[in-house]
Amino acid sequence: MSTGYPDLDALQPRLEAIPTLGADALEAEHTAVLGRKSGVLTAALKGLAALPVDDRKRYGAAVNRLKGQFEAAFSERRERLAEERRRREAAGVDLTMPGRQRWVGAEHPVTHVVDEIVGIFRELGFAVATGPEIETEWYNFLALNFPADHPAMDMHDTLYVDAPPVAAEPAGKLLLRTHTSPVQIRTLLASPPPVRVVIPGMVYRNDAMDASHLPAFSQIEGLAVDEGISFVDLKATLNHFAHRFFSPATRTRFRPSFFPFTEPSAEMDVECQLCHGSGCPACKGTGWMEILGCGMVHPAVLENCRVDAERFTGWAFGMGPHRIALLRYGVPDIRLLLGGDMRFLEAVGRPGPRSGERE
Ligand code: PHE
Repeated sequence: MSTGYPDLDALQPRLEAIPTLGADALEAEHTAVLGRKSGVLTAALKGLAALPVDDRKRYGAAVNRLKGQFEAAFSERRERLAEERRRREAAGVDLTMPGRQRWVGAEHPVTHVVDEIVGIFRELGFAVATGPEIETEWYNFLALNFPADHPAMDMHDTLYVDAPPVAAEPAGKLLLRTHTSPVQIRTLLASPPPVRVVIPGMVYRNDAMDASHLPAFSQIEGLAVDEGISFVDLKATLNHFAHRFFSPATRTRFRPSFFPFTEPSAEMDVECQLCHGSGCPACKGTGWMEILGCGMVHPAVLENCRVDAERFTGWAFGMGPHRIALLRYGVPDIRLLLGGDMRFLEAVGRPGPRSGERE
């Protein structure tokens, strides 16, 4: 349809071509026709001011009409292209494509060992107790019958906390507990016997990190105090534990040892889980691996907890789940347990993600 203005009529083929343009060409054409700086119609409107009044009106109306037609054509084409794109994308979904393999986490081997040990003792009627990781010298040492000048209390071995001592306690200096044994004291003070508890938790020592030492590691304490408890109960319970945790055929042995808070004291070994007794580098050729310290609760400890040591006896043990994880999984370096190497964690971890397994 002619506008009567050749310059505007010349744009007619371009208007008609709009429904054939692709996305990029469409945007370029939009700029060329309606762009604010250099669009042809924009320029035509700008030129109006120079025309005489009559011409200005008629020409202006023609330009505006054409501008409206262009605008409608552009937005219709844009709409159509967007619709096509949506349809293509929807049709492009391949519903038969295999799902992306989701990654299932696994329990850390030490967490697993702790849970399993605690579980075995729970079956035997033991409750779980916990205590603070920042302790006083009294709970960590003196109440446990350490003499006041015991070398374990040196700064050399123990990490002291730079804070004012707890005034209400006989030896209130604060430290990071070096073992879970202070929770024996807390448990007995809070609940008189009969007591049967296991106490999992982290402990801290001023040790350099190497293949077999960590400055922070886990322990599980055990404590049974009642009337008539003897060393037989200790041995029977810990043997039962070793048979449940390692294997029913695992041999054990008790060697005399010393701890200030038990008398008599012992260390318990299980047969090496790698060579089963014949001797290998992991057990330094002995065929045995030490798993815990234990003994009969010292009467002085019971008295410190206001328990009548004439009437009650008890036994206690302390073992290190980090160490036990090494023995059980044959891990050569304890530091592997702190790293985040998934190849290691998957190899020793609980049945978790295995290649080929899908969620
Ligand atoms: N607390 C001792 C340690 O950390 C272990 C232990 C606990 C020994 C209870 C005897 C009884 O080495």
